[in-house]
Amino acid sequence: MKVLGIETSCDETGVAIYDSGKGIIGDALYSQVELHAEYGGVVPELASRDHVRKTIPLVKEVLQQANCTKDDIDAIAYTKGPGLIGALFVGVGVGRSLAYAWGIPAIGVHHMEGHLLAPMLEDEKPDFPFVALLVSGGHTLLVDVKGLGQYDILGESIDDAAGEAFDKTAKIMGLGYPGGPALAKLAEKGRAGIYKLPRPMTDRPGLDFSFSGLKTAVANLYKDSDQSDQSLADIAYAFQEAVVDTIFIKCRRALEQTGHKRLVVAGGVSANVALRAKLTDLLESKGGKAYYPRPKFCTDNGAMIAYAGYCRYQAVQQKQGQFEEPVVRAKPRWPIAELD
Ligand code: KG4
Ligand code: ZN
Repeated sequence: MKVLGIETSCDETGVAIYDSGKGIIGDALYSQVELHAEYGGVVPELASRDHVRKTIPLVKEVLQQANCTKDDIDAIAYTKGPGLIGALFVGVGVGRSLAYAWGIPAIGVHHMEGHLLAPMLEDEKPDFPFVALLVSGGHTLLVDVKGLGQYDILGESIDDAAGEAFDKTAKIMGLGYPGGPALAKLAEKGRAGIYKLPRPMTDRPGLDFSFSGLKTAVANLYKDSDQSDQSLADIAYAFQEAVVDTIFIKCRRALEQTGHKRLVVAGGVSANVALRAKLTDLLESKGGKAYYPRPKFCTDNGAMIAYAGYCRYQAVQQKQGQFEEPVVRAKPRWPIAELD
């Protein structure tokens, strides 16, 4: 079967087609980064209007890429939440309307479940159960995943999300928006041991995170430094090292607490090379394995929504359940633990 997936929760319009036999057969993404760059962050109203312009053209593009017509599509999955309400409504409206017109089911997908399942699109897929580390611009979650929809939150950020910490720190250092990838690139030229930043909340038990203090610490380092290229790279290195170490310590704890030998890492920050290297080593040292999406499926995309929609479709069929009633509903706030 083929599922068309639509992602419009934030500043990326993503559309893709998942084929249960072949995997992803069409995938298109339009990033609004340039649109928001001059404001230093996402402007929700501009985001919604741009999704309106791009969603239908991208649907046409992926159908063409996949050599399909509308008659080949068996279901439509769209991001129902969490996210920016106006942006969500574009995907919800387009997804529901197309499904109604084409006479096929529409499935509202949880954005973070999309991220969580994205590593299943790779050749080496994780089996359940596993610990999932979801690190994006809006969320930092450690989840005990026993199966599809069986999500127990082990820990989360009490303030800034990991990606948000990268973006805000990059902004302080004048690296533009979105700063995460730019900061990570700058850190490659940084030297170890020049600056030392704290590893927040690692000196006490528990699996929650707090990243907001790090940006203040970086602001002070930045102010007091000579702001030469090398100093900026050294500060970027120290910041990235502090975030990666903190996440590493919490993941190690989560694996010890649950006894799981598999770690799934997803969301925009899972593209970070230093984080991947450290977590891969951790799992190897424990005789387990870390799983990641390919870099382009770490950040927001339509493929993960198409795939999560496919999984949800199968679950409904297996239980001989009903698809959601055909109403246009988005959930800007939606804890992943509420899924079943
Ligand atoms: O998952 P995502 O595309 O959007 C949300 O659902 O929030 O994540 C975007 C976040 C941004 O904060 C971005 O700066 C961060 O992921 N990010 C990175 C890297 N690539 C993207 N952070 C650190 N290192 C990277 N290589
Ligand atoms: Zn995301």
